[in-house]
Amino acid sequence: MMSDGYKKSDDICEDVCGSQTSNSPLSMSRLRCFCQGLDVKTLIVLFLFVPTCIVGAYFHGQKVTYFLRPLWQSPPKPFIEMTHYYHENITMENLCKLHGWGVREFPRRVYDAVLFNNEVDMLTIRWKELYPYVTQYVLLESNSTFTALPKPYFFALSRDKFKFVEQRLTYGTIGGRFRRGENPFIEEAYQRVALDQLLQIAGIEDDDLLIMSDVDEIPSRHTINLLRWCDDIPQILHLQLRNYLYSFEFYFDSKSWRASVHRYRRGKTRYAHYRQTDYLLSDAGWHCSFCFRHISDFIFKMKAYSHNDRVRFSHYLDPKRIQDIICRGADLYDMLPEEYTFKDIIRRLGPIPHSYSGVHLPAHLLDNADKYKYLLPGNCRREG
Ligand SMILES: *[C@@H]1O[C@H](CO)[C@@H](O)[C@H](O)[C@H]1NC(C)=O
Ligand SMILES: *[C@@H]1O[C@H](CO)[C@@H](O)[C@H](O)[C@H]1NC(C)=O
Repeated sequence: MMSDGYKKSDDICEDVCGSQTSNSPLSMSRLRCFCQGLDVKTLIVLFLFVPTCIVGAYFHGQKVTYFLRPLWQSPPKPFIEMTHYYHENITMENLCKLHGWGVREFPRRVYDAVLFNNEVDMLTIRWKELYPYVTQYVLLESNSTFTALPKPYFFALSRDKFKFVEQRLTYGTIGGRFRRGENPFIEEAYQRVALDQLLQIAGIEDDDLLIMSDVDEIPSRHTINLLRWCDDIPQILHLQLRNYLYSFEFYFDSKSWRASVHRYRRGKTRYAHYRQTDYLLSDAGWHCSFCFRHISDFIFKMKAYSHNDRVRFSHYLDPKRIQDIICRGADLYDMLPEEYTFKDIIRRLGPIPHSYSGVHLPAHLLDNADKYKYLLPGNCRREG
């Protein structure tokens, strides 16, 4: 019985190794079997493939997980997209009617509230865009970044550039908590609660329109005009914005949805930057991420904000590399797109194609094209 057993295993080995080993002593044939049949493949696997995997996972772990994301995460519930109509020559009555709303006798008051980091240019373009319709601008800034690094009160330092809003501005500062190693989203939430209090100080009342968005998420002015004039708009509405990276040269999709507009309700409305309703108003403005004038602003942002864990290697902060990536429309963190289906991931692989359209951009940007050249197509070189 025992020898049968040996014989059997030997047969298996012979099948693998070939018949020339059949006359060798048992132990030798096994060794040779191991060395012949498995050697090339096994050695490659053990000494090349496995270390390659480990090194690869170290350098490209994010890519692997993001590429496999469609397997481990299903997409969020889709929004109910609302068709958005606009033409400058259509009366407000007809515009409201096209959306299924009536027109009011007088417009709602509008509050635009932001947490400010250091985006002076984006803030100027935003405030000028919304200027005709905003009742109160509310701005809060901290002396701490979300990642607990100390920072100056940049708005206070540039305040003379914002004289045009002085009559309508409620400005507040808040001291950071400086908890090193804490999740940056906690500091961010803390600052948003303070922004709620600043809104009270600014005198917001029930049914006033409140815009909640980051500085670089800019609603178009006609969108806000529509929402302040029409009567039955939803209590909360997300704004779908056109996504740009580095400048208006690199348009990549229209999937930005975090910005929202609220009909304010005292005690209920809380300043937030996550999903709060299913309604999404189509084509309502622009979201320009990493649209900075100086390379140093890119480095500050990469170190200081919520996704600083993405700076996995110090050479990511090399100014020459950053400039090169900006001009190519590639990814600063060398990451794959955050998409939910393989189709979308593959469609968005590689750099963003250049766009040559300067149509339907914020008015202040085009009126001051010399000053904001770096935001327009064909001007990717940044100041040192
Ligand atoms: C646009 O409106 C103006 C007046 O508001 C009018 O004179 C003009 O004919 C309109 N243009 C079109 C194309 O309807
Ligand atoms: C931040 O501001 C708070 C409140 O004004 C102050 O107490 C604190 O010392 C400041 N911290 C830094 C690092 O500037």
